[in-house]
This record gives sequence, structure tokens and C-alpha cells, in this order.
Amino acid sequence: MAYSAKVMEHFANPHNVGELPDANGVGEVGNPKCGDIMRMYIKVENDRIVDVKFMTFGCGAAIATSSMATDLVKGKTIEEALKLTNKAVMEALDGLPPVKIHCSVLAEQAIKAAVSDYYRRIGIDPVPIVGEIRTDADELACSI
Ligand code: FES
Repeated sequence: MAYSAKVMEHFANPHNVGELPDANGVGEVGNPKCGDIMRMYIKVENDRIVDVKFMTFGCGAAIATSSMATDLVKGKTIEEALKLTNKAVMEALDGLPPVKIHCSVLAEQAIKAAVSDYYRRIGIDPVPIVGEIRTDADELACSI
């Protein structure tokens, strides 16, 4: 299965790339197998993600899914952002080849990691709200 036009578009011109100096939540997840790393920055105001940026050192699918995921959570409440699944990101990209599905999990988990960091900074235990971050789960196993 080839990459969809949308994946190619987001890979070639990813949205929301870079760092966010005034971020109040930063999450990083990595794939120990392929070494791909994703860092997500969020700026939260009144429970809403008013800005988001990412840096991905990784494959094309990881970059495209990060780009789409940031588009999907920008302007959303934290509650809405936490509902974003890798499946929804993939659907928004018109699909991914099966061997690349795990790359989209990285984007989903990076957002959760950034939200967890935000909660920690304001003194709230994120685990009951966000759950565990699956940084080394089987879902992240890479098949490059
Ligand atoms: Fe490692 Fe895509 S995230 S190959």
C-alpha cells in the first residue's frame, strides 16, 4: 500500500513544526526499536490547547501523523484532545500502510505525554486522567 496524497502532503509540508518557547506542557515519546523520537509542545489556557508544535526525529509516517495530530488538537479542550486516537489521525490522513500504523501511536502518545506534563506542572497527578503513556508498548514496535 502506498502513502495517500494527504500523508505525502503532510510529510512534505508538515504543519506546526518547531518549538514553543512558552509551552506549559512538553511530552516526549520514543521508539526504542527504530530510535524515532517525537516531542510535543502545548500551550494550555483555560483548559484549552491554544497552541501546539512538534519536533519529530523519525520516519515520514511519524512526521505526517504528528502534523495531522497537531492540526486536530489545536484549539480543542484538553478533554477533547485526550480522546484523539491514532485511528482518528490515520483516518484523517486517508490511511497508512499496515507496517506504519505504530508510527501514528507515537503521535497519540506524545499528546498524552504533553498533557501529563501540563497537569504535573500545576500539581495534578495526571495518571487518573491521562493514564499511562505507552512509550515502550508493543504498539510502538517498528517495522521500517
Ligand atoms: Fe519508527 Fe515510524 S515511528 S518507523
